[in-house]
Amino acid sequence: ANAVSVRSEMSYVMIKPDGVQRGLVGDIISRFERKGFQLKGLKLYQTPQAVAEEHYKDLKEKPFYPALVGYICSGPVVCMVWEGKGVVASARKLIGATNPLASEPGTIRGDFAIEVGRNVIHGSDSPENGERETAIWFGSEGLVEWTPTMTPWLK
Ligand code: PPS
Repeated sequence: ANAVSVRSEMSYVMIKPDGVQRGLVGDIISRFERKGFQLKGLKLYQTPQAVAEEHYKDLKEKPFYPALVGYICSGPVVCMVWEGKGVVASARKLIGATNPLASEPGTIRGDFAIEVGRNVIHGSDSPENGERETAIWFGSEGLVEWTPTMTPWLK
């Protein structure tokens, strides 16, 4: 498909507590900005357990689920919504493979992480989950609708 036909979509991207505590917030946001995606939502947030459970509800039966929920709630996270053409797949490329030992250098996890249980960042795995997760973390009024008039390629 050529670039014009790729539809605009939203990805929910979250810097996890280890990323915040290690001072990686600026570097990570910078990678998404430089790529050319549009920021629609941004907040620092202490996650209530019920929110983490809803976000990861498809993993409820996994042995690591309690540890994952505990990790996400262990300190503030940075919640973001990025919009743009193909942003879901592109964000996952920027983020790198789930297991940081398999992530390529140059990706966020490849550069900054070694353990799956401390893998710094989350990105939606489908456009449908981008919508679902955005609703969980930002609700219906949490996003800002804005037009980047000085950078028309963003929209
Ligand atoms: S699975 O088992 O294939 O459904 O899991 P996967 O798609 O690889 O990962 C789903 C999310 O679970 C996180 N994960 C873990 N967290 C803690 N400990 C262990 N062992 C573990 N394995 C997977 C993984 O980082 C994914 O979270 P997000 O936030 O979506 O990256």
